[in-house]
Amino acid sequence: MIISVISALLLCSTLLVRATFAQLHPTGPASYQRLPSLREQAAILDSWRDERLSKIPDLLNKYRIQAWLISQREYAEDTIWWSIKNATEYAPHRRTVLLFHANTSSLAGRPNPLKWVDNTGAVWPELREILAQYNPRRIALNTDKDVAFGGGLHVGEYEVLAEELGENWMERTVNEPMLGIEYVATRVPGQLKYYRDLQETTWALVEEAFSEQVITPGTTSTEDVEWWFREKMLLLNVTTWNHPRVSVITPESFPGWSGTQDIIDEGDLLHVDFGITAMGLNTDVQHMAYVLRTSQGETNAPEGLKEGLRKANRMQDIVLENMRAGMSGNEVLTACLDQMKAEGIEGQVYSHPIGDWGHSAGAVIGFTNLPTYVPVLGELRILPNTYYSIELYAYSYVPERNETLRFRLEENAYWDQVTEQWNFVYGRQERLHLINATHRPTASLAQPTFVVQP
Ligand SMILES: *[C@@H]1O[C@H](CO)[C@@H](O)[C@H](O)[C@H]1NC(C)=O
Ligand SMILES: *[C@@H]1O[C@H](CO)[C@@H](O)[C@H](O)[C@H]1NC(C)=O
Ligand SMILES: *[C@@H]1O[C@H](CO)[C@@H](O)[C@H](O)[C@H]1NC(C)=O
Ligand SMILES: *[C@@H]1O[C@H](CO)[C@@H](O)[C@H](O)[C@H]1NC(C)=O
Ligand SMILES: *[C@@H]1O[C@H](CO)[C@@H](O)[C@H](O)[C@H]1NC(C)=O
Repeated sequence: MIISVISALLLCSTLLVRATFAQLHPTGPASYQRLPSLREQAAILDSWRDERLSKIPDLLNKYRIQAWLISQREYAEDTIWWSIKNATEYAPHRRTVLLFHANTSSLAGRPNPLKWVDNTGAVWPELREILAQYNPRRIALNTDKDVAFGGGLHVGEYEVLAEELGENWMERTVNEPMLGIEYVATRVPGQLKYYRDLQETTWALVEEAFSEQVITPGTTSTEDVEWWFREKMLLLNVTTWNHPRVSVITPESFPGWSGTQDIIDEGDLLHVDFGITAMGLNTDVQHMAYVLRTSQGETNAPEGLKEGLRKANRMQDIVLENMRAGMSGNEVLTACLDQMKAEGIEGQVYSHPIGDWGHSAGAVIGFTNLPTYVPVLGELRILPNTYYSIELYAYSYVPERNETLRFRLEENAYWDQVTEQWNFVYGRQERLHLINATHRPTASLAQPTFVVQP
């Protein structure tokens, strides 16, 4: 009902309606999206990267840094290198030294970063000369002890820098992890269209996996489905950052443990946690499915399971309503837990930034093993203009099973500057996927791209 009202409104097609619509379950099935050719992707990726690099002088000024020095060798690269590299580069060659500068004084208008690729030691006198001309007061090195995105300088590189730059410059070095965090976390507008396509492909994968096309109750195992995902990704020209985890939800199964790895049967509640990687972006999604007891004439999931999903949906609303740029992850977490308590919902929140990485840079909102307070990463502030993976579970008692189960959902959201709210990039799961095993594939579907052979 709500869906049909919304789709009528959608015909008006205002931005606001589209944003509101994005919170709901998309009306039709998701379909596999074709990505541009690799050559076109490279041009797109490089233009996003250039847009991000152009903001580095402002970023340095924001944190009162004049120079950001990144030094690395082939196969011992700084974490940040992956967000700076050209699309056709696979490793920093030889020793690659990058010097980002605030684009002022003697370096105004010079390439940013200044770049050396060296295996003779010639970089050091040149770097010392540049520093002497430029005279930066604070030079950031990626030496953070806790944050990966601010701690990518390898120990050997640090020692070489200390020897080659000497006391004079080393005294001016500082640790400012927010440079790496903010650079990696901040999205550029052009990404959203492609990120939405990747989310739709992610959904299409779940919809096919959690269907009678792939699952035959009593025959197919959870592990078969996991490997089906992996093989299918190859055909779709995407990869992953995390092996898919498919399990049967039981009262004992909890996040971080795969749940029951078993043959899938009628009446099972299934769960998947997986994501795809393409075009420098990552998705991370968790959905649930129910295997209809078709042998007993069942045509829908038990009410108790639907109720659990609704509670998890309500928790998603609570997280999105409470997340505000400038708040710490822990402040958001506390606000969410308070509101859940007020509404009588029990569960856990463990949401995280996503984008360049599956678990990307920025403030986390809970951790599976740290349900109420996260040191360091939880004390960071939520940044505007980022992507977040809203990951959580709601406990719900299922009378039909006399069991309390965790309803585990995850969807990816972005900050919409027009509506000033977080929206899901593609949608969120509001109905259980149903595996209807009496529904035999039709002739045209009888030859899917491939079928898992148990
Ligand atoms: C994957 O790439 C191949 C080779 O370019 C292409 O033929 C195929 O259609 C692509 N598949 C999808 C789903 O985009
Ligand atoms: C990317 O390629 C261009 C052109 O070859 C080069 O000037 C630039 O230094 C490269 N960027 C990085 C980060 O290596
Ligand atoms: C760097 O400085 C030059 C000259 O002052 C200016 O034209 C250019 O726009 C600046 N670039 C950035 C990224 O700030
Ligand atoms: C429901 O489960 C509880 C706890 O496991 C058990 O004590 C109770 O007997 C069960 N009730 C029914 C109706 O099976
Ligand atoms: C299951 O498949 C049967 C046979 O095609 C069909 O009649 C029935 O409507 C389907 N049930 C659901 C819930 O999709």
